Amino acid sequence: MTLFSSLFHLSVGILSEGLKALWSPHTGIVDWGKVNHSYSEDFKYRGGDVCLQFEVCGFHTVPESQRFTTSSQKEFPVRVTSEKQTIRCRYVVTCGGLYSDKLAELSGCSSEPKIVPFRGEYLLLKPEKSSLVRGNIYPVPDPRFPFLGVHFTPRIDGSVWLGPNAVLAFKREGYKPTDISLSDLCESLKYRGFQKLAIQHLGYGLKEIYRSINLRAQVKELQKFVPSLTIADVTRGPTGVRAQALDKNGNLVDDFVFDSGSGNLGERILHIRNAPSPGATSSLAIARMVADKVEQTFSL
Ligand SMILES: *[C@@H]1O[C@H](CO)[C@@H](O)[C@H](O)[C@H]1NC(C)=O
Repeated sequence: MTLFSSLFHLSVGILSEGLKALWSPHTGIVDWGKVNHSYSEDFKYRGGDVCLQFEVCGFHTVPESQRFTTSSQKEFPVRVTSEKQTIRCRYVVTCGGLYSDKLAELSGCSSEPKIVPFRGEYLLLKPEKSSLVRGNIYPVPDPRFPFLGVHFTPRIDGSVWLGPNAVLAFKREGYKPTDISLSDLCESLKYRGFQKLAIQHLGYGLKEIYRSINLRAQVKELQKFVPSLTIADVTRGPTGVRAQALDKNGNLVDDFVFDSGSGNLGERILHIRNAPSPGATSSLAIARMVADKVEQTFSL
């Protein structure tokens, strides 16, 4: 079946079923680690360098008054500094996930939208039960709730991940409930946008916390999709942290947010403050969009 005809079948399915579920026969499972690795190999092959463990602490540019005293300043006017190192750049594009708001602030941009970290915990299906789930199972999103809800994801290694939920993380990199940073936590709690979200979705939020503690409650949620699933079929699994951009009115930002601030740095820096899911699946399309944005912002 060609992609086109299966899309046709898919849309007929949607129309006749009144949007209960989607069946997407061409959705495959790939090894994202390998894809990621080959992206970085491509980048290096074309002359790029990948520096890991480089915690950015500032962006600087040569002041207007003493602009371009040397040719290297003229060519690479932006300095990106960490505690120990400096990299000189012609242009800078940032995409800092959990720290994307902090990076934007470092170059004088607004602190909003702010990143509020939400932990997403998964359960794992026990290997002997993996035949219960043969493809991705997704709920149809309920627009009344801020997050998509649990889904079933078979992975390249044969394991099946169930989840994630969404509970406030007490730290930007708060992968465990016991990871707490008072300053990160206060920042979230003091943020008007978070307060509005919390008030609006208090019931949902409390249920999520309850389900996070009580495995049985989480399994009950999953049984809506796979009724034969029991608590004996699952174990606790890995967790991730969503870099959730929230505006000051408490809305979850679900589109891309670009920012470049003002002043000299503004002509040289492009911040990607929010890159919504699915990032990996759409990475090539996102790259094309970012490249267009770079051309436009820097008049290249
Ligand atoms: C992607 O590759 C980079 C190094 O090139 C690594 O730091 C990062 O953890 C990788 N991410 C994933 C999800 O594999």
